[in-house]
Amino acid sequence: MQQTRDRAIGILDSGVGGLTVAREVMRQLPRETIYYVGDTKRCPYGPRSKEEVRKFTMGIVRFLMNHPIKAILIACNTATAAALDLVREQVDIPVLGVIDPGARAAIKATKNKTIGVIGTQGTIQSGAYEQALRKIHPDLTIHSLACPAFVPLVESGYRHTALADDIVADTLSPLRNTSMDTLILGCTHYPLLADSIRKAVSESVSIISSAEETAVELSTILQHQQLLSDQHSPKHRFFTTGSTESFSKIAEDWFGFPVKVEQVELYFPSVG
Ligand code: DGL
Repeated sequence: MQQTRDRAIGILDSGVGGLTVAREVMRQLPRETIYYVGDTKRCPYGPRSKEEVRKFTMGIVRFLMNHPIKAILIACNTATAAALDLVREQVDIPVLGVIDPGARAAIKATKNKTIGVIGTQGTIQSGAYEQALRKIHPDLTIHSLACPAFVPLVESGYRHTALADDIVADTLSPLRNTSMDTLILGCTHYPLLADSIRKAVSESVSIISSAEETAVELSTILQHQQLLSDQHSPKHRFFTTGSTESFSKIAEDWFGFPVKVEQVELYFPSVG
């Protein structure tokens, strides 16, 4: 029988964004198997109501729980803001989000205590980053901005284009007049637009994605709970509810190796 420690890490997102976290998990924890679900069919989650995001997130969690997994990583800020508490209530394995790790990384990086946060409408409206940042450090200036155009740009394969540069520069212009020295990419899709974002903000701004710190947290939890895998060649699986073709194209570009993607249907429980 399979040992608990050889089970997979379930990673979820509304689409390809969580791959930015998955790549960092593979880098820091190369013995761990990943089962990744991107709910591309219902992407973007950002403009949806909290209730809807909770329902979709629980649909993915239920799918993952039917597979051999030992921890869940909600690699989506919108779903973390809306449903982390709910998922933690519903399952008896470790569940991690991406907002607290992102907040910690930004606090480590800032020198002038002025932090920008960009994310989806859902994440920005929830105030989850402000709360997470102020819980650790009460004396910060925070500039938050929703960037609803970014996720559709990534999902339709427009990264590394002049169109992406223009839309990103235009959207981020309100942040240029601030004194932020640190910018949190508060959506896991945004590291896929990092080149355009880098061009749009001052060179001195530290750009923070949650991926690295989230993988550190996962590693710490697995170690603490004696759940670190000792396998040599983990067999990752990738699932999407949308087109396997466009998903694998973006995944292969991001990972730099071929990715087999399986299509799935999700079923949604009714949740509060
Ligand atoms: N990658 C999700 C996040 O981190 C995104 C987005 C969406 O579907 O709007 O918020």
